[in-house]
Amino acid sequence: MDTAALPPTTGRAGAPALARPGHGALGRTTAITYGTYDLFHIGHVRLFERIKQRFDVLVVAVSTDEFNAIKGKKSVMPFVDRFEMVRACRHVDLAIAENDWAQKEHDIVAHGADGFVMGSDWSGRFDHLRALCDVIYLPRTEGVSSTELKQCIRATAAAGA
Ligand code: CTP
Repeated sequence: MDTAALPPTTGRAGAPALARPGHGALGRTTAITYGTYDLFHIGHVRLFERIKQRFDVLVVAVSTDEFNAIKGKKSVMPFVDRFEMVRACRHVDLAIAENDWAQKEHDIVAHGADGFVMGSDWSGRFDHLRALCDVIYLPRTEGVSSTELKQCIRATAAAGA
């Protein structure tokens, strides 16, 4: 992975690594969100779209294949493809890699994030980040997920269609 695109290890303008970052430079607000984004689908796009209705800048952290292995998750699409799909979405201003559980605090500060946003399936799981920025859980799009798409493809193949 090209780590040159990753943020520096200190906060903006020399801020302490875990200080609450506040509003971004030039009065623009920034949100950050995390996920695997396998088989990039309409639920992912709508989440990004809803985030951009509330924030000016959207940073999306895409889980690497190595991190997914730690989570016990295996994607159909490799990291480089998932990353490129996310980065190509017009709602996304910056894509970064998610390598481990602990990087969120660093990312929030490094990117000056005002909001940490996830779908409602993660409700309550990241409330500890409220010390750093707003934590928002948005409703998921009903009826679609990477898991369901995989099941649907398997069922279609098994039916010989
Ligand atoms: N998400 C969403 N609506 C969906 C599916 C996902 O808003 N229908 C959101 C999740 O809540 C999360 C982000 O998209 O904040 C990334 O989720 P991800 O786990 O990559 O997608 P899923 O489709 O939920 O994947 P899986 O079935 O493997 O859990």
